[in-house]
Amino acid sequence: MKIGSPEHRDTFCKHFMQTYTEFDPDTLPWPNLDEAALNRLKSVPFWEEVFYTERRAGAIVAEFVKTLQDPVMKEAVALQGFEEARHAKLIRVMIEKYGIDAAERPLEDVSDNVETRFKDFGFGECMDSFLGFGVFKIAMQSEFLPKEMFTIFETLMYEETRHIVFFVNWMAWREAQRGRGAAWLRAATSLWFYARAIGRLAGTIRRGAKVNDGTDFSATQAGVFLEGFTFRRFLENCYGENARRMKEFDDGLLRPSFLPKLGAVALSSLRLWSFRTS
Ligand SMILES: [Fe+2]
Ligand SMILES: [Fe+2]
Repeated sequence: MKIGSPEHRDTFCKHFMQTYTEFDPDTLPWPNLDEAALNRLKSVPFWEEVFYTERRAGAIVAEFVKTLQDPVMKEAVALQGFEEARHAKLIRVMIEKYGIDAAERPLEDVSDNVETRFKDFGFGECMDSFLGFGVFKIAMQSEFLPKEMFTIFETLMYEETRHIVFFVNWMAWREAQRGRGAAWLRAATSLWFYARAIGRLAGTIRRGAKVNDGTDFSATQAGVFLEGFTFRRFLENCYGENARRMKEFDDGLLRPSFLPKLGAVALSSLRLWSFRTS
C-alpha cells in the first residue's frame, strides 16, 4: 500500500472508525474510594493540566475539522474531536465526583494556524502517550488506586493509542499529498515537531514544579508509586507498554516510531553502562 494513496487513507480512517467505543463518562462504574485512595487520587499534581489539555485538544480538533474537504477524512477527524471532548468530560466528572482541587482554566484562542496547531497537538500526543504508558503501568503495578479506576483510565489510554496511530498515518498521508512524502523528509519534519513538543513539555514541567512547589506529590501520597521508581524502570515500562499496545493494531498501519527507537537506544546504553559498572 502506497503511503498517501486513497487506499492508505481509507485503511487508517476505516480502522479508526471501526475501533470506536461507546460510553458515557457519567455512567461509568466509578468506584467508591476509601480515604487513603482518595487522598492519593487528590495528591496527583497534574489533574488541572490534564483537564486543560483535553479541553484544548477538543477545541483544536473541532477547529481543524472545519478546514477539511475530504469527506472520509472529515468524518474520522470529527470522531477524534468528539473523543477528545469526551475525555475532557470524563476528567470533569472525576474532578467533581471525588472533589479534586483542579480549576477550569480559561482556554486560549485556537482558531488561527489551525493545521500547524493540529500537528503540534498530534506530536505532543505521541510524546505524552509514550510517557503516559510507562506512568500508567507503574501506577497500576503499585496499586496506586483500586483497579476499577484503572479500568476506567484504560478506556482513555486505548483511545489515545488510537489517536496517535491515526495521527502518524494522517501526517504521512498529508505530507505525501503535499509532495513531501520521501522518507527522509518525513523523518526530518517529525524531528522538528518532536523538538517543539519536548520544548513545550519542559515548559509544562517547569510551571508545574512552580505551582506544586516540587514537594506536594513526592512528600505526601506518592510513596507507594515512587517506591522502586528508577529512570530505567520507567523507560522499560514506556517501551514495553508501547510495544504491547501497538501490537493490537493492523500491520498495514504506520505507528509512531521516533520515541520507541530513542527509548531502545537509551535502554541499550543504560544496560551497557550498568553491565560495565557491575
Ligand atoms: Fe484525549
Ligand atoms: Fe487524543
